[in-house]
Amino acid sequence: MSIENKVIDESVQGEATLYPVKDKQAINGKKLYLESYGCQMNFSDSEVVASIMSNQGYETTRNVDEADIILINTCSIRENAELRVRQRLTDFKKKKDKNPDLIVGILGCMAERLKAELLEEEKLVDIVAGPDAYRDLPNLVEEVGTGQKAVNVLLSRDETYADISPVRLDQGGISAFVTIMRGCDNMCSFCVVPFTRGRERSRDPESIVNECKDIFEKGYREVTLLGQNVDSYRWNISSKGEIKDQNIPTTNFAQLMERVALLSPDLRIRFSTSHPKDMTDDVLIVMAKYENICSCIHLPVQSGDSDVLFRMNRGYTREWYLERIAAIQNIVPNCAITTDIISGFCGETEEEHKNTLSLMDLVEFDFAFMYKYSERPKTLAERRFTDDVPDEVKGRRLEEIIEKQREFALMSNKKQIGTVQKVLVEGLSKRSSEHLCGRTSRNSMVIFPKLSFQKGDYVMVRIDSCTSATLLGEATTINS
Ligand code: 5AD
Ligand code: SF4
Repeated sequence: MSIENKVIDESVQGEATLYPVKDKQAINGKKLYLESYGCQMNFSDSEVVASIMSNQGYETTRNVDEADIILINTCSIRENAELRVRQRLTDFKKKKDKNPDLIVGILGCMAERLKAELLEEEKLVDIVAGPDAYRDLPNLVEEVGTGQKAVNVLLSRDETYADISPVRLDQGGISAFVTIMRGCDNMCSFCVVPFTRGRERSRDPESIVNECKDIFEKGYREVTLLGQNVDSYRWNISSKGEIKDQNIPTTNFAQLMERVALLSPDLRIRFSTSHPKDMTDDVLIVMAKYENICSCIHLPVQSGDSDVLFRMNRGYTREWYLERIAAIQNIVPNCAITTDIISGFCGETEEEHKNTLSLMDLVEFDFAFMYKYSERPKTLAERRFTDDVPDEVKGRRLEEIIEKQREFALMSNKKQIGTVQKVLVEGLSKRSSEHLCGRTSRNSMVIFPKLSFQKGDYVMVRIDSCTSATLLGEATTINS
């Protein structure tokens, strides 16, 4: 990933992906076109949706023109994300005008936020399904068939889709996402997620471990355990920390990760996202214990100023965050640390912004997603504060943050020169068919001459040079 890719307001997380699926189920002659926006959770949810629809006989297509049904899995996190989806819906509307039988459905966070409102607007969509309503999609499609508009935006306290075996949308891939929990109870004041994804709930550890095992057996070599706040994963433990059922073993995030790590030393484990207020040493200790748990933590700081963090309702101070960074550096030496930063939150003064820059100097993040604050309807910030930092000021502060991060990204890569890194090969380099690309445990992209190595191989690579986005090197593993 290039740094340019990462730092723009709508980052990599905001890109759309189209999915080709060859399903093995009986087909019903109908084709589904699925498009996803937003975070990794959405991409993982789309695999659940593909599974549910393929059980109904839908074959998935890459070609929107041959689709009988278009489903678009959406993101509401910033206004820009929603504007992009609206543009796509307008494109699809033209297709609907030409083909009245074409069904268009909107899924995910925007569906949840706007609910039936979306059905009224210029008749853009026929189906609105929130993140907890995907099991109902076949019924919703049927309702549309009978001439009705179909909506299900019920949020659930226990839906985890634990029993649904996701259709892997990048078949033959190396890296897969596995959702371990859904929803968020944190109520950060800027964030729409608690309203669109509902209450926090954890998925049965047995189903998670089985899914990871299955993935490994199918040839995947990396799994990313996903949740809005993985540190609050808990099974059979109440929110007050009490055991719910004495006959069932309890599992916290550190224990879950350990079980997955033990499946095979050749299965790499990553996880996202950690929360600074909840990230405990036991997770770090498990990371340090297993070589196949990647040395990389995404720990969104959002701001380096304690007053801003208080207004954001983040539940920690600058000092607490720095103490957590020190714990990571102590327990998992050489761990890459990445973050999310928001510029221009309500009431942010120049001094408060400078505190974000100074925190960046202290931590030296390896990578960051950086955003301008975007006010979201119904959030605590919208109700309590004024979005009073002018857009030019937000933009200028963001530029300063990006500029600093660019230096640290380059510095982080330069430090790797001369080291030998274990790289998991993802495939051919985009720029040259004579080179392979893959990632280190710290999640840096490495390019090196192909020789006869292949996708899925672990190769020891000596790093010789770098850009701010990529490491370049040569294999030291003996080629078979
Ligand atoms: N404005 C800007 N950025 C936001 N994020 C979440 N909500 C907003 C918002 N209203 C960012 C946070 C979060 C990441 C996923 O998106 O940095 O960690
Ligand atoms: Fe949003 Fe905060 Fe939950 Fe992350 S932890 S999803 S930023 S409310």
